[in-house]
Amino acid sequence: MQTSNYLSQDFIFESWYVAAWDHEVSTGQMLARTLLGQPVLLYRDTQGQVVALADKCCHRAAPLSHGRQECDAVRCMYHGMKFDRSGRCIDIPGQDQIPAKACVRSYPVVEKDRFIWIWMGQPQNAAPAAILDFFWHDHADWRMKPGYIHYQAHYQLVVDNLLDFSHLSFVHPTTLGTASNAQVSAQVDRTEDGGLRITRWYINDEMSPNHKRVAQFQGPVDRWQIYQWHAPAFLRMDAGSAPTGTGAPEGRIDPCAMKFRHTSVQTPETLGTTHYFFCQARNFALDNEAMTEAIFQDVCTAFGEDRDIIEGQQKILNTDPNFHPVATAHDMGLNQARFIINRRLQNEQAAPTGTPT
Ligand code: FES
Ligand SMILES: [Fe+2]
Repeated sequence: MQTSNYLSQDFIFESWYVAAWDHEVSTGQMLARTLLGQPVLLYRDTQGQVVALADKCCHRAAPLSHGRQECDAVRCMYHGMKFDRSGRCIDIPGQDQIPAKACVRSYPVVEKDRFIWIWMGQPQNAAPAAILDFFWHDHADWRMKPGYIHYQAHYQLVVDNLLDFSHLSFVHPTTLGTASNAQVSAQVDRTEDGGLRITRWYINDEMSPNHKRVAQFQGPVDRWQIYQWHAPAFLRMDAGSAPTGTGAPEGRIDPCAMKFRHTSVQTPETLGTTHYFFCQARNFALDNEAMTEAIFQDVCTAFGEDRDIIEGQQKILNTDPNFHPVATAHDMGLNQARFIINRRLQNEQAAPTGTPT
């Protein structure tokens, strides 16, 4: 990867990341997933608790994900070394003494809001209280279907995309976008907890195509997209459409208004590839499973549209390490995000503990 002028060449390690949706780590199955350039094995122990170990046997680097789970432990199926859930070797076939160095790294893991969260930084800094809230993933008042897509692109290109919705008019004309997306200026605010709040209102506008498909009323709307973004790559959005003039911008939400909560989370796989976890939750017609599926498919189609252009962008950037972007007024959000990410990287690299390996 040569795109050093435009895309960071390091990962932020001191952060919780999403390793998987909860259903991706199922009992009796091993999930191998590369996160921040490191091979990781995820599985559930006999109590159903998720275990995350380096997917690299300390003997000859065989992937433990090719191994066998034995109760709460995993046995490497190359020469048979067995590791407990803390990563300590507890058996070497044909050998009584187990060297102290015989261990693999284990990672702190928390299961919350249907996400499997992992901490890849210094373990003593892993504070579960810092995990962002995604309550709509399993709240009784909301309904969603979880989604995952893989990108052949640096995660910052996805962040750029999510922080500039002017692209909705051009990339998503039949899914998420209307002509007004590129005309409305977003309000970008820094939040006290080090993130961004991005606010877009479309007053007396048409519904977006995806809202139209599930709307329970017709006519012009006041429509909003209000989202919080936090580094490295978390977007939590409150979006909706209300009949125009019913007071939504002032906080009066008409009973027939449609409200959505959107999740877009990226976890770098490598410096050129990205795991993308998403969902679009709604607070109406909760028992309508066909609607859940239709909304899910709509988002999948739209995210395929994003992926086409972003993976294309990555290929071009690979040919031009010295590319410098020309700025537009819509770049305000993503420029601030880049500033926040760069400052986090600088602080992390200046810290005496350094990056764990
Ligand atoms: S590589 Fe795992 S036991 Fe030899
Ligand atoms: Fe998009």
